[in-house]
Amino acid sequence: MNTKVIQIDKERDLDPQLFEAADVIKNGGLVGIPTETVYGLGANALDASASKKIYEAKGRPSDNPLIAHISCMDELPALVSEIPEAGKKLAEKYWPGPLTMVFPKSDVVPYGTTGGLDTVAIRMPSDPIAIRLAGVPVAAPSANTSGRPSPTKAKHVIEDMDGKIEMIIDGGEVGIGLESTIVDVSGEIPMLLRPGAITIEMLRETLGRVEIDPAILGPLSADVKPKAPGMKYRHYAPKAEMTLVEGEMENVVSFINREAKAALEAGKSVGIICTEESRSLYEGGILKVIGSREHEETVAHNLFAVLREFDDRQVDCIFSESFSKDRLGQAIMNRLCKAAGYHIVNV
Ligand code: TXA
Ligand code: MG
Repeated sequence: MNTKVIQIDKERDLDPQLFEAADVIKNGGLVGIPTETVYGLGANALDASASKKIYEAKGRPSDNPLIAHISCMDELPALVSEIPEAGKKLAEKYWPGPLTMVFPKSDVVPYGTTGGLDTVAIRMPSDPIAIRLAGVPVAAPSANTSGRPSPTKAKHVIEDMDGKIEMIIDGGEVGIGLESTIVDVSGEIPMLLRPGAITIEMLRETLGRVEIDPAILGPLSADVKPKAPGMKYRHYAPKAEMTLVEGEMENVVSFINREAKAALEAGKSVGIICTEESRSLYEGGILKVIGSREHEETVAHNLFAVLREFDDRQVDCIFSESFSKDRLGQAIMNRLCKAAGYHIVNV
């Protein structure tokens, strides 16, 4: 298949090329779509055969459900059997935006989209124009090959999806860089299933009590199932072996310098994920500055691109600094821990 890449200027009101993308979706095809979180791989959420193509293009296990994206509140009632109070409050406060909510699904949503579940995950992204033009809810997982870091630039989507999908909309770099926060509002007490830019602190401010799925906080033993099926896979993984180093900054830097030296002497290539604040303290290896500790948004924004750059450089091992686990840090550490396959060292 020949994948057509179209460039759009998000500042422009309505790029006519988007009609073409909307037609592809209407006709059951796949389109790479920029959102404020990461690039998505979009298809008609109400068409089980279109959803099936998403799983094939990504190489994704079919029990891992997709998020249905809507362009306005009017589209919500048809997709769900109930809108709980918590869902109403969060929609009012954070939609459009980087928040996905899990609702009990209605009959129009096929099991092929929800991975066989009776619930459906729904998000209204901040720039829903392609979805509005398509006139149907758009199922869109992150547009990476399953297991690779999520795409934050059109270039990443091209790397993973060229030849496998009809079209890619290049809308430049995404804003946030981490996938949306997922909250299950289908039960009695709302539960955070995946941390993102809408933080647990923000959710609790709006809703009061919100529980946290233990899958977010650490590796799961084989008998515990995460509520978001996708959280069980080793996502976001770079090809190299990755070690996440926690502790006082001084200790972290000297540990990484020591380990990097030993690896270099053993003939390995070494990548180091550091920050603006620590960049001058490292003595060897390929350094990537992930952002500034003063502005964690920069860390979130660069995280997946840095992992992909290390893949391109084919490093053998990666050492990464770690971050505080509050606010946006919870999402950053969740992704870094998973990238490292929970290989975490305390120094
Ligand atoms: O920011 C995002 O959410 C991006 C953009 C494209 O919108 N999408 C995204 O989709 O990250 P994906 O498929 O890569 O991740 C969706 C996650 C998976 O972990 C999946 O298991 C979970 O959402 N999920 C989807 N439907 C669910 C449901 N009904 N119940 C629980 N978890 C669900
Ligand atoms: Mg994903």
